[in-house]
Amino acid sequence: MKNLLVIHSSPKLSQSITRELTTEFIEKWQTANPQGTITHRDVGANPPSHLTEETIGAFYTPAEQRTEAQNQALSVSDELIAELRAADEIVIASPMHNFSITSGLKTWIDQVARVGETFHYTEQGPQGLLKDRPVYVITASGGDYRAHTPIAFLNHQDTYLKVALNFIGLQDIRLIQAAGVAAGEAPINEARAALTEAISA
Ligand SMILES: Cc1cc2nc3c(=O)[nH]c(=O)nc-3n(C[C@H](O)[C@H](O)[C@H](O)COP(=O)(O)O)c2cc1C
Repeated sequence: MKNLLVIHSSPKLSQSITRELTTEFIEKWQTANPQGTITHRDVGANPPSHLTEETIGAFYTPAEQRTEAQNQALSVSDELIAELRAADEIVIASPMHNFSITSGLKTWIDQVARVGETFHYTEQGPQGLLKDRPVYVITASGGDYRAHTPIAFLNHQDTYLKVALNFIGLQDIRLIQAAGVAAGEAPINEARAALTEAISA
């Protein structure tokens, strides 16, 4: 029985394109996986806390030496990493905000990219520790910044997200883009077709 982790990151709870597309994705996923379970994490409505000096100190303190306060400071990170480990597949709904991801999704990354837990340092450089699994990234942006456009260099959204996920061991990134939604419905329909294809593949 598969578990799908759904991460929403739009602060908009209504009329959000990424929420709408992701809801369609979930419906199709559930049809393809009738016994599958779904875990919801909404970092748009409830952004994870920012890292503090205490959190960072706790990240770098070996488990057996941590104080009770440090364990407490790690509770958000512990919970988010446990959700990631338990997932067989992940879907991330990512609106573009100011050329990048939303601040809620950034704090999620800051809480889950954790030394000794999701990556470690080796002689060859940092290495991701999470088991690889499919990660569907559903994006929406007002403009179209895809690789073939002259403004591709302004895109720090899916490019950044891919780097951050690869860093913790998630290599199998499947991008579904609604690129240029300010121009009308066409990009949303393209994304809709792409997600149907992605699930049935
Ligand atoms: C605060 C904010 C910042 C945005 N920044 C950008 C941007 O830098 N580039 C862009 O093309 N669209 C930008 N947009 C448009 C959104 O990417 C677009 O409306 C998208 O549909 C948002 O996803 P959502 O509908 O799921 O919230 C921005 C929208 C908001 C609300």
